Amino acid sequence: MNEKKILLSLNKQVLKSPPVWLMRQAGRYLKEYRDVRKKAGGFLELCYNPILAKEVTLQPIRRFGFDAAILFADILLLPQALGRKLWFETGEGPRLEPINDIIDVNNLNNIDYMNKNLQSVYETVKLVKSELSNDKALIGFAGAPWTVLTYMIAGKGGDEQKAAKIFMTTKKEIFDLLMEKVTIATVEYLSKQIESGADVIKLFDSWAGSLGGTYFTEYVIKPLEIITSELKKRHGNVPIIAFPRGAGARYKKFITMDNISCLALDTTVSPEWAKHEIQPFKPLQGNLDPIHLITGGDEMIKQIDHLMESFSSGPYIFNLGHGITPDAKPGNIEVLLKRLSK
Ligand code: CP3
Repeated sequence: MNEKKILLSLNKQVLKSPPVWLMRQAGRYLKEYRDVRKKAGGFLELCYNPILAKEVTLQPIRRFGFDAAILFADILLLPQALGRKLWFETGEGPRLEPINDIIDVNNLNNIDYMNKNLQSVYETVKLVKSELSNDKALIGFAGAPWTVLTYMIAGKGGDEQKAAKIFMTTKKEIFDLLMEKVTIATVEYLSKQIESGADVIKLFDSWAGSLGGTYFTEYVIKPLEIITSELKKRHGNVPIIAFPRGAGARYKKFITMDNISCLALDTTVSPEWAKHEIQPFKPLQGNLDPIHLITGGDEMIKQIDHLMESFSSGPYIFNLGHGITPDAKPGNIEVLLKRLSK
């Protein structure tokens, strides 16, 4: 087959067996990843080494034959390219030098400088693309502005995004300026990924669910609208997947957004609900709980079958509801793939 199966689903075709890829499919649960990461010297070193980043991007494709590869990078490379210090504390996740005031926002790098800093990421996209077979798609990605801002302001994840919310409600003008800068930077970053060969784009809004009141529209929907309409203008038919994690019933707000091709469901969205409320309007992706890749067995099969019963009558891409964890067992992925192709 020479066709990219995932593009058919994104084009609303209903397929007998769904295309499949898994969030965080390149990662510590694979020995071959741990080996390359060690060789690189660390996670960020790996992200900025095009040859090794290409290698880990392709590892899960070689091992499992997934229908799509996702660029090996991180949503926090963008704030780093804008000039913020980024590092990873072992076992604790990412740390950024927090944004405090207007001076920090004014001092962010311009787009040319940002692109120079991200040159090796664009190089990775080109290298992956040149090695990927024609039936596999390459997914480029970025964090959505709200999620990126939560890390830029707090300097870390977690804590219910309290720091970002305090900033948003007490220093709104500065917050809005930062949001605007990150939104513009994200358009340019994704645009370059598309020019370098990305077939599909995914926007990760991992903390979308933490915004309430009128803020969901203002800081989740609006920036995504700006980014996706600009990408559409520049690149026409490159499909975009949005992942507004934790949005709950507000997933419905996305069905009228014409420039979003597909909604990625998090683990908490009920398949029955999404089948009726979302899938008639948009192809869906998701949403097996990654816990099943640790525990496997009959429970995993039962949940895979439930997802297939719910979604296989519409356009659908099989995936998890969040990323694979380091303790996932590769053998469970083989069982999963067998079940889907039966
Ligand atoms: O395989 C893929 O999915 C592609 C690469 C990818 C990574 N991060 C690599 C990574 C993607 C798409 C991301 C997205 C990302 N990064 C998100 C959005 C998705 C989500 O999970 O909600 C967020 C919030 C981040 C920020 C981030 N990066 C965190 C919170 C962490 C620490 C958690 C952890 O698993 O260690 C990272 C590190 C990270 N990003 C790793 C990988 C493979 C682990 C790094 C390592 O090898 O030690």
